[in-house]
Amino acid sequence: MPKVLRINRTLVLPPGRKTVLAAARLIRNGRLVAFPTETVYGLGAAAADRLAVKNIFKAKGRPADNPLIVHVACLEQVKEISSCIPPGALELMQRFWPGPLSLVLPRSNRLPQEVSAGLPTVAVRMPAHPVALSLIRAAGVPIAAPSANRSGRPSPTTLRHVLEDLAGRIDAVLDGGACRLGLESTVLDLSGGRPVILRPGGITGEQLEAVLGTTVEVAEGCKTGTPPSPGMKYRHYAPRASLVLVTGARRRRLALMAALAGCYQKKGLKVGILQAPPGPEAFRPAAKRLYQTLRSFDAQGVDLILAEGVSAQGLGAALMNRLRRAASRIIRV
Ligand code: TXA
Ligand code: MG
Repeated sequence: MPKVLRINRTLVLPPGRKTVLAAARLIRNGRLVAFPTETVYGLGAAAADRLAVKNIFKAKGRPADNPLIVHVACLEQVKEISSCIPPGALELMQRFWPGPLSLVLPRSNRLPQEVSAGLPTVAVRMPAHPVALSLIRAAGVPIAAPSANRSGRPSPTTLRHVLEDLAGRIDAVLDGGACRLGLESTVLDLSGGRPVILRPGGITGEQLEAVLGTTVEVAEGCKTGTPPSPGMKYRHYAPRASLVLVTGARRRRLALMAALAGCYQKKGLKVGILQAPPGPEAFRPAAKRLYQTLRSFDAQGVDLILAEGVSAQGLGAALMNRLRRAASRIIRV
């Protein structure tokens, strides 16, 4: 086994065949292992192990009513955790898996209730990261994994972020470098009559509609007062500084941000600016940087973040969703 670092009680495992096998053994023994995916790092435990799943909630400080996504490496594992595969699901799996799409399906009774926080459904996805896939294959069981951050903090996109939040609270973390996408998967509910996006993410609504051949609704979320996805009722991805999101026409947006920045700086506050990507072609790099930037603002002691809204086309929908949920105030100009 290559040289392995230990921080508090958390093993830091470099990628490689031996360390993946060691991590898989830990998972099988009911331990918690953080691992890289193409979206963000996940905090994994064997989905069938009730106690291990409870420990995920403890380590993150996650409210017990917020269900987890189960990660699989093959279709057989989907069948282990869901009671049926609804129409459209196979087509979506074929087109987008492995990849950043989580499907909410009817849940099998074999799965402990804690995984899906008592809901009759389960979210499942096959991650597109070689380390994640080899870990699930080596463990031989589906792995429940929320993002590997303390609850309410921005999702981790590097090993360092995972250690910042969870060193000493989990058994191990597998290093897989920086996550390629940097933003979480799309959560699509297929358990009802019509497909509904519960969380916009790496796969866009347009891409889903092209495969399903129908329009795909986006859940209104918290605005309606009855959150369709439990995760939506929590303020999320929140940096320590308060974040003000400015939306509306570009010229007015920028003018207001400049005025606000000047005003707050005069008061002695440290202001961080999150500029919108210039156009849809720059959404990908912006998504990859977002959580990293929020964390670095915290590290620099920024008091107030002024974030510029983006258009909700393509990946812009996911970016705006995260900014809205991180915001303590939204100003439309
Ligand atoms: O990209 C991702 O999805 C990452 C990586 C690690 O796979 N995972 C992730 O998990 O973002 P988490 O736990 O941070 O977010 C899961 C979201 C939450 O908003 C949760 O409420 C929702 O998915 N969710 C999970 N199971 C659900 C279910 N059965 N019904 C409705 N929403 C569900
Ligand atoms: Mg999360």
